[in-house]
Amino acid sequence: MAANPKVTGDTISVERPTSREQLDEFARLPFQVYDARDAWWPPDMQNEIDLLSRRSPLSACLEVTPFCARRAGRVVARVSAVINRRYIEHWNEQLGQLIHFEALEGEDIAIAAMLDQAVQSLRERGMRAVRSGFAAFLDYPYAIDNYDLLPSFLLRGNPPAYHRYFKEAGFVTEKGQVDYTAPLVPEILARYRRMADAAAMAGAGIAIQSWREFGFLAAIDAWTDVTNSAFDRHWGWNPVTRAEARPMLTSLWGTPVADLSMLASIDGQCVGAVFSVPDFSTALARVRRGARLEPERGGGTRGALINIGVVARARGRGVALAMAARSFLAMAQRKMRFAGYTLVLDDNWASRRTALSLGAHVTGNFLTYRRDL
Ligand SMILES: CC(C)(COP(=O)(O)OP(=O)(O)OC[C@H]1O[C@@H](n2cnc3c(N)ncnc32)[C@H](O)[C@@H]1OP(=O)(O)O)[C@@H](O)C(=O)NCCC(=O)NCCS
Repeated sequence: MAANPKVTGDTISVERPTSREQLDEFARLPFQVYDARDAWWPPDMQNEIDLLSRRSPLSACLEVTPFCARRAGRVVARVSAVINRRYIEHWNEQLGQLIHFEALEGEDIAIAAMLDQAVQSLRERGMRAVRSGFAAFLDYPYAIDNYDLLPSFLLRGNPPAYHRYFKEAGFVTEKGQVDYTAPLVPEILARYRRMADAAAMAGAGIAIQSWREFGFLAAIDAWTDVTNSAFDRHWGWNPVTRAEARPMLTSLWGTPVADLSMLASIDGQCVGAVFSVPDFSTALARVRRGARLEPERGGGTRGALINIGVVARARGRGVALAMAARSFLAMAQRKMRFAGYTLVLDDNWASRRTALSLGAHVTGNFLTYRRDL
């Protein structure tokens, strides 16, 4: 497709925003896409602009190029092309990523032109494949259900048309992902107490501590080390350094994250880590006045386990179950009635079995796209 096609008098152009004003315009597009909804998660605009201006803790290993499609003077779509040197080295794969994708309805021609230029820019930089819908710490997959509901914290609630745009641009489904929810009812909480006790029993020797009990700053480093080891061969992951994780997580020390996140140790060695959050919807989601969230979606009643990992040598001994059980019990103590177990690959049976044993059910489905060049 031509870079600047014309349609019935409306000029379509694809631009690379660079000025502060242009980056602001880029960051504001989600407000046009989602603001008519009863509830949605607005982006952290400053964080996004920092990333686009190479002022993020992750900038050292990233090249990020934003693109906007404009029709008749108005921004109608956006995406950022990313080259993540850490990912490329880790997997020895020349794979680029498209993150930040958002688009207004009915702008298919402009969207196609923008995606074409973004993909082309990655090809010119030597990338042999492009992924959209998962980039560690940067982007999350595209929803294929619950389109009008508040998604789980961090996840997308994109319009259904986004799938059409990626298929039209030559992408295929690379991976499916599942989001789970467990109801924190008395019978399930009793099961969690048994799981936590089994780990602590003599013989098992597994000690579970919250990040606050462990020491929050030391816990961030322990989480980084355990997660890098546990996720080493996990599709889509790339290692993160302690220096990158600290500024992203330190500000959470005064929040319930410190009480809901867990570490597991055997003989004084950290072997497992869980990062969990309370219901942030009351503070961070935009909820229309008078709109009521279902309690399993938000409004103060849904916590979420965002990330769980156990190093290979400690697997199959109930460490994951014990950490998640302790995290979910701590959520129940703080009046949460549901716990999310967020984003599991469809084929990650160890994690899906963990979710099932925690009494969780599939409550959301997502996709990541890929195009080989
Ligand atoms: C997923 C993971 C955290 C499980 O940790 P673990 O401590 O070995 O899990 P547990 O011993 O507590 O077992 C939990 C359940 O999973 C099952 N399970 C564990 N490993 C399994 C495997 N390789 N295949 C199938 N089921 C498995 C257990 O049998 C148990 O189910 P049960 O209660 O029905 O018996 C661990 O494999 C891991 O860190 N994987 C890499 C990172 C990852 O995928 N994290 C999750 C991202 S969503």
